[in-house]
Amino acid sequence: MARIYNQGIAERVATFETREKTPDELAALIESGALALVAKRDGVLLAFVKVGPYDDASHYYSGVGEATLYVDRAARRSGVGRALMDSVAKAAEDRGYYKLVGKIFASNAPSIALVKACGWREVGVHRRHGRLDGEWKDVLVVERLLGDATR
Ligand SMILES: CC(C)(COP(=O)(O)OP(=O)(O)OC[C@H]1O[C@@H](n2cnc3c(N)ncnc32)[C@H](O)[C@@H]1OP(=O)(O)O)[C@@H](O)C(=O)NCCC(=O)NCCS
Repeated sequence: MARIYNQGIAERVATFETREKTPDELAALIESGALALVAKRDGVLLAFVKVGPYDDASHYYSGVGEATLYVDRAARRSGVGRALMDSVAKAAEDRGYYKLVGKIFASNAPSIALVKACGWREVGVHRRHGRLDGEWKDVLVVERLLGDATR
């Protein structure tokens, strides 16, 4: 997972994070009980998705999670991302979440196309939401309702 996340950091397309993560840091995430799913082929890890807490940690938002997805560069465009996005929606619903949100750089066309293909809704764009290597980035907020919130 660290290897794949660090690819995403190096590419500068998906996160404001610029410091590479260690396997121990990712292990701590799993041990914390956070919802995380991986995709494997022939025993090789190809991708992961994790659901972290919504930015506003108020108790009344405990049913909202923020999803983050990374696919190994060599495995992209083969349906892995879509499969994990569908699986994580089901797994989050089973855990009692009623909504997943995502924050995507407005310049991250593959990711925007993926969430659209998976039935997520665009909420709006935070302008100049942070700086990456000194450059302002706009951030698109997306969401998917789950469970009884869909009815
Ligand atoms: C964005 C990302 C997760 C997509 O994962 P993926 O496994 O390549 O996506 P899939 O193969 O499941 O694609 C599903 C659909 O998403 C859209 N899509 C995915 N990549 C695309 C691309 N490069 N260009 C256009 N559409 C794309 C398409 O609609 C695609 O369906 P199709 O192949 O039938 O046309 C992957 O490119 C990635 O890990 N990027 C770096 C990290 C990142 O940006 N993460 C998201 C931000 S948290």
